[in-house]
Parts: sequence; structure tokens; C-alpha cells
Amino acid sequence: MKWCAVICLLFALVACDELPLAEPCNEELCQLPDCRCSSTDIPGGLQARDTPQFVLVTVDDNINILNIVTYREIFYNRQNSNSCPSGVTFYINHEYNNYVFVNELYNQGFEIALHSITHQLPVTYWKEATEEVMAREFGDQKSQMSHFANIPYESINGMRVPFLELGGNSTYQAVANHGLLYDHTRVTIENVDPGMWPYTLDYASTQDCVIEPCPTASIPGAWVLPMITWTDTAGNPCAMVDDCSQPPPVTDEEAWFRMIVYNFERHYLGTRAPFGVYIHEWYLRIHPAVKRAIERFMDLVNNLDDAFMVNSRDVIEWVKNPVNLTEYRQQPCKTFVPTTCARQNCGPLDAEEHQPGYSYWMEACVSCPRVYPWLNNPLGL
Ligand SMILES: *[C@@H]1O[C@H](CO)[C@@H](O)[C@H](O)[C@H]1NC(C)=O
Ligand SMILES: *[C@@H]1O[C@H](CO)[C@@H](O)[C@H](O)[C@H]1NC(C)=O
Ligand SMILES: [Zn+2]
Repeated sequence: MKWCAVICLLFALVACDELPLAEPCNEELCQLPDCRCSSTDIPGGLQARDTPQFVLVTVDDNINILNIVTYREIFYNRQNSNSCPSGVTFYINHEYNNYVFVNELYNQGFEIALHSITHQLPVTYWKEATEEVMAREFGDQKSQMSHFANIPYESINGMRVPFLELGGNSTYQAVANHGLLYDHTRVTIENVDPGMWPYTLDYASTQDCVIEPCPTASIPGAWVLPMITWTDTAGNPCAMVDDCSQPPPVTDEEAWFRMIVYNFERHYLGTRAPFGVYIHEWYLRIHPAVKRAIERFMDLVNNLDDAFMVNSRDVIEWVKNPVNLTEYRQQPCKTFVPTTCARQNCGPLDAEEHQPGYSYWMEACVSCPRVYPWLNNPLGL
């Protein structure tokens, strides 16, 4: 045992840490619920007309006193046509985050997901991130989020890397090693029509690699939830709503609404791959016409019998066990156990090594940390 450990230490970089290379997908061996080949085929062999059209509204970055106002205004108290509450997924990073608001979002039934502790620049930090860096940025963030927002550890299932900058294998090792279900970072511009459905990394992916590096190892159990891009008025791809190079004029609500519906119809009238609306709140705050267009779009979805605005994890759960539209509509709504928040206003908190001399304030649902939580000390002990 001992000599093996020593050899592993010596050769850790070359041998013992090497992941198996993913082989071309074997449809016979790779079967739901735990394995799915990368594919544009509708899960369960369903016809498009029998398939629920899922709409994934996601929001990135920390929650604060400004953006919570927008979330309350546009997301709260929405219902799908099956009378179940509409879902939204929040990919939240730690710095300047208000955990009292995270608790509030959780108690509204929204999904709380991870977006790293530091969200730091340069983007090469994420591109080159090792398994160890990803463990500290996401594995530790899962404990941190659950602790300060007082929400169940198991309720946190997803992640998105800052700047949509995949770390290759290490991103999905973070998923597999920390009890997460999926990552929602990998962009596609080629598998858009028909769209790529979620799949696992047991076998090699056939999805286009837009932002390198993409994973090539076999990482069983890690789900890829592709970000299917929109096309703007000139046909350029946009991954996020604020990311189109030729968007409609930002004051033209009607043109924005038409662009969103045009993109939605490619999915809805096609093979019904999940349709994403990927938001940074600041863009809606400075462009009220865009915000209204998105609200109108959500109203439209909420009134369709065969489209459902859901949390991202719900899509993975459906893909694991696909049921047709009729059966989906008859399922009971998802439930969760509400949690409390003993609001604490914490600060000034010393930033210790990462920003010497700088102090932070932070709102949390549990007792205050000693120092500002950060990498290597995610609970600020
Ligand atoms: C991912 O893992 C495979 C298999 O071990 C390896 O060949 C590849 O270089 C790794 N990719 C990155 C970006 O680390
Ligand atoms: C939907 O699935 C149920 C249960 O498997 C089945 O009884 C029903 O015939 C299906 N409906 C359609 C339209 O395929
Ligand atoms: Zn971000």
C-alpha cells in the first residue's frame, strides 16, 4: 500500500490521475436513466407533438439589493398551464452575494445553482483550471451556499462556469465529484436545429466545441445541459440575451419580442429541444423594453398547453425518465421543504489574504463568519 502511494505521488501528474479517454458512444450499453449518448433525438423516442417543450430561464451572478427587485417583479407568482409554479435557475457566485435573498429565491421554488466563489479574471484561469481548482471553486461553494443561505445541500444540483469558459474534463469532474447532477456551460452553435438534448459524458460527445477546451475523458454520471444559442437579426449566434452582436434596437420591445419568438419557434415547431433564455439582470435593468419583451415571452409560454418554464434540474430529470405530454401534464407539481432564515448583517469582515486591508459586508441566514469567506476558507472560520 505504502509503496503504491509513494509511486502515485511521484507520478501523479502522468499516470495515477489520468482519466480514461471517452470512446465513441455505444447505444446498446448507454441507456437511460443514467446514460445518454450526445444526440438531437428526442428522449424516449417520442414524437415532437407528444413532447413537452421546456423553457429554461436562467440568471447569472450574485444576488443583491438591486437585482432582487427585478427578480421579484418579473419571476414571482408565475404558473405554467398545468398549474405548477414556473421555474427559474440562478447561477450564483459568492463575492458580494446576499444569502438572505438566496434563501428567499429558494423559498419561491426557484433552483439555486453554482457559479464559483471568485468569478475571477483572467478567463485563462477557468480555461486551465485543474480538478483541484474546480473542487475549491465549486465543491466548496456548494457547502458555502448551503450553509449561509440555509438551504439543503442536496438541493444544489447544477453549475455554470464564469464567462462560459469550460475547463475541459475538470468542469465535469467537479460535477461528478461533488454530488452535482449537471453543468450548464457548454455552448452549441451547430447543434441548434435540431437542438442537442442533454446527455452524459460516459462516452465521447459529438457536440461542437465552441469555447475550448472541451472534455474528452469518460466521466460517468456527469450530465451536459447544452446552451443552445439564439440567432440575432443578422443570423449571428448569441449564447446570452445580452450577447448578440446585432440585436434589435434596445428600445424596440416589439422587435425584441419577435426575435425571441422567432428563436423559440425553431424549437417549438421543430424537435422541442429545451429552449433557453439566458439572462444577466443588468441588461434588463438598463433596457426596460428588453425586460418587457422577455416578460411578454414568459406570459406566452405560461399560456401554452405544451410548453413549460421549469428549473434546469427538472429537464435532466425528465430526460432520465421521459414521459409524453399527456402524462407530464398529469404529474403532480414538484414540492420542496421551505427553510427559515435568521437574518444577520455581517461586517466589516476582513478579506485576509485575497484583498489585504479591504473589508466586506455580507447578509447571511446563520451566524456571521469570522472573516470574509473565500477560497481555502469557504465558511470564513
Ligand atoms: C481530458 O482527459 C483525457 C483522457 O485522460 C486527456 O487525453 C485530455 O488531454 C484531457 N483534457 C484536458 C483538457 O485536460
Ligand atoms: C402517453 O403515455 C401514456 C402512458 O405511457 C399512454 O397510455 C398514452 O397512450 C400516451 N399518449 C400518446 C398520445 O402517445
Ligand atoms: Zn457570471
